[in-house]
Amino acid sequence: MTTVVDRWDIHPDHRWLRGERPERAVEFDEKMGMWNVYGHAEILEILGDHGTFSSNTARVMPVSVDESLIEGDMSQMDPPRHRKFRQLVSHAFTPRLIAAMEPRIAEITDDLLGPLEGRTSIDMVEDLARPLPVIVIAELLGVPASDRELFKGWADKIIEGFSGFDFLDGSEEGEQNIREATEYIQPLLAYLGEHLAEPRRRPKDDLLSHLAVADLDGERLTDNEIVNVANLLLVTGHITTTMLLGNTVLCLDAYPEQAARVRADRTLVPGAIEEALRMLPPSTALTRATMVDTRIGGQDIPKDQLLMLWLGAANRDPRQFDAPADFRPDRDLNPHLGFGRGIHFCIGAGLTGLEGRIALNGLLDRFPVLSTRPEQPPTFFPTPDMIGVRSLTLRTA
Ligand code: HEM
Repeated sequence: MTTVVDRWDIHPDHRWLRGERPERAVEFDEKMGMWNVYGHAEILEILGDHGTFSSNTARVMPVSVDESLIEGDMSQMDPPRHRKFRQLVSHAFTPRLIAAMEPRIAEITDDLLGPLEGRTSIDMVEDLARPLPVIVIAELLGVPASDRELFKGWADKIIEGFSGFDFLDGSEEGEQNIREATEYIQPLLAYLGEHLAEPRRRPKDDLLSHLAVADLDGERLTDNEIVNVANLLLVTGHITTTMLLGNTVLCLDAYPEQAARVRADRTLVPGAIEEALRMLPPSTALTRATMVDTRIGGQDIPKDQLLMLWLGAANRDPRQFDAPADFRPDRDLNPHLGFGRGIHFCIGAGLTGLEGRIALNGLLDRFPVLSTRPEQPPTFFPTPDMIGVRSLTLRTA
C-alpha cells in the first residue's frame, strides 16, 4: 500500500518513515558531533533521567546562543528551576480549565468552518488548522487574536530559522543562520513586551497577567522571562497543533478504510489523532546533553555530549509497536512519544487534543469528502526536526 510518506515525499532525512530501521538504537554522528537515539526504550530511559540527560543543551552547542533568548524558556531548564516555572504556567492548563474552554473552541471552529459550507475545496491549513490554535492561545495569553497575521509571519521565520541543524557542524554558514534566526525573533519579543505593560499595571484573568504578578522565590519574573514564556507558548503551541490537524487529515486520506470507520464511529476520533501523532509527530526531534559519563543502548557516551532523540523513529520501533507502519485509530496501547515524556511532557497536550477532536469532528460533520488533490499536493515545513503540513488543499465534495 502507498503510505502517506511515499505519496507526498516527506523530508528525506526521516528514513524510518519509509520503513528503514536504523542499524542501532544509538549511533554517533561524526559529522555533526552528536549522538542520534532512535529506540523507544532508550528514549524513554533518557527522558526519565533528567539528572544524567539535561535539557539545558545550549552549553554543549558549537555556536553561542544568546542567553537572553532562553531565559524563562522552561523547555531548556532542569529542576529545581524547571519545576517552579512549570508550576506558574501549568496553572492555565489544568484539566478543569481546558475542559471549560470547550464551548469557546467549538464556537471558533464554527466561525471558521461555517463560511466554507457548500464549498467543493478548502485550504485546510489557512481556513482552519492555522487560525484555530492561534486564536485559542492568543485569547489564553491575553493578546489580540486579530493580530494573528503578524504571528504567522514571525512564527514561520522563527521555526525555519532555528530548526535546521546546519549550525551543529560549527561552520560559518551555520553561525550566520543562527544570527538571522535570532533577528527574526526580535519583533515578536518586542510585540509581547508591549502587551505586557498593561497587565503589569492592571492585571486581568489571562496568562500574561498571571505571570506579571507571579511570585517566584519572593521575586517577580522579569519582562524578559515572561516574554520568552509567552513566545514559547505562542509559537511552539500553535504551529505544532496546526501540523497535527493537517497530519491527521493526511493519514485519514492515505488510509481510506480507516477514514470510513472514523467517519461512521466518532468515538474513534481521539484514537485517530493519537495515531497520527505516532506516525507523523510534528515535533520529531528533541535534544538533551549528558551531565556525566553514561551508557545507553550499549554505547558509552561521555559527559557533555549532545543527543538528538528521534521521536518519529521511536514511534515506529517494532520492539514497541505491532505493525508500526499501519495506521490504526483503535490501537489498544499507543505509548507514542509525540508529546515527549517525564518532567517536560507537553504542557499543551490536553488543549491540543481538545482542539483536534473539535476540529476533526467539525470537518467530518460538514464535508462528505476530505481528500487531497493530486494536482495541488500538500507542502511540508522543510525543517528536519518537524514533520508537518504547511499547506493542504482538500477536495470536500
Ligand atoms: C500537536 C501539538 C503539540 C506537540 C506535538 C507538542 C510536542 C511537545 C513535546 C514533544 C514536548 C517535550 C519537549 C522536551 O521534552 O524537550 C513539548 C513540551 C512543551 N509544550 Fe508542546 N506540543 C504541542 C502543543 C503544545 C501547545 C498547544 C502548547 C501550549 C499552548 C505547548 C506547550 C509546551 C510547553 C510549554 C512545553 C515545555 C514543557 C516543559 O519543558 O516542561 N505545546 N511539547
